[in-house]
Amino acid sequence: MNYVINAILQKAENTHRLELEEIIQLLDLEENTEEQKAFFSAADRVREKYVGNYIHLRGLIEFSNYCKRNCNYCGIRAKNTRVHRYRISEEEIFEIANKAAKLGYRTLVLQSGEDPYFTVKKLKNIVKTIKEKNNVAITLCVGELSHSDYDELIQAGIDRYLLRIETTNAELFKQLHPDDDFYTRMELLRYLKKKNVQVGTGIMIGLPGQTTEMLAQDILFYQELDVDMVGQGPFIASPDTPMAEEKNGDVFTTLKVIAATRLLCPDIHIPATTALATLSITDARQRAFRCGANVVMPNVTPQKYRAFYELYPDKACIGEDSDECRACIGGIIASCGLEVGRDFGHRIKKTPA
Ligand code: 5AD
Ligand code: FES
Repeated sequence: MNYVINAILQKAENTHRLELEEIIQLLDLEENTEEQKAFFSAADRVREKYVGNYIHLRGLIEFSNYCKRNCNYCGIRAKNTRVHRYRISEEEIFEIANKAAKLGYRTLVLQSGEDPYFTVKKLKNIVKTIKEKNNVAITLCVGELSHSDYDELIQAGIDRYLLRIETTNAELFKQLHPDDDFYTRMELLRYLKKKNVQVGTGIMIGLPGQTTEMLAQDILFYQELDVDMVGQGPFIASPDTPMAEEKNGDVFTTLKVIAATRLLCPDIHIPATTALATLSITDARQRAFRCGANVVMPNVTPQKYRAFYELYPDKACIGEDSDECRACIGGIIASCGLEVGRDFGHRIKKTPA
């Protein structure tokens, strides 16, 4: 075992602090080496020590694929006229939520494109009604809104807000987002973090032009902001987007970033994402649960809509319905010797501020 790597791993496991250069060395480890296995085992131990052997399930409702933005990687960008657009009615959203709660979900994630049809007034009504009828936590993921809109939604009872930074490199961010501003996104994350709401962010891995150093910077950013959740998946080139011809990210790099995130942010929630499952339906989620991940977000959107929420091609679980995904995920978790979390799965902070 290389003594430099060994020392980095011990420092990470004991202090959860690393220098940029040290993170880069971990992210550069090659597959199936002794050092890489020690890296993943350390992340697995830290996961067990800080967040236990429970995997938290979040039922994902993709309630609208209308989007006013044009992120260059995303299959549901406004300019993609080949997408069949849908909005799920409020009544149907309530039915989906009730069914998901009956399946045992204690968190529902309401996600959509940036769709002005769903005004803050409508969103507040949806959040309140779901929480009145079901004992669930609500995570909202509807993009960039104003401070006062976020305030109102927090007031209405949302527990968590997801807003991925996608990359913390300002230049790369700009290349990906023709109509978003990096500093605005950052400011919104910092604003949410000051409020009474848990904050999730995350990145895509394997973006064109993205370096290992940028990934290490992303992880240091999660630590600095003290985010409560980090969702990270491989970039997958989507047809009918300006990035259709780019190379995909890969599973192994994604797992390394997950493992390093666990070492530096030991008590946060880290999902095994759908994008990861899409690149390797068979074992990517198992592998993620053994190198730091402790959350999974099975889709509870009715099957008839799923194919249209196509951020990237061949998305996992397009052909399944919510009970099938619940059963499938349960099997994967059990096969890893882990258990399904039964509480809300809020982040319990165990690291000093
Ligand atoms: N490949 C991988 N992930 C993608 N996302 C959007 N498009 C793609 C793609 N082509 C991710 C983004 C977004 C989340 C909802 O899905 O990170 O924040
Ligand atoms: Fe949907 Fe496995 S999680 S089929």
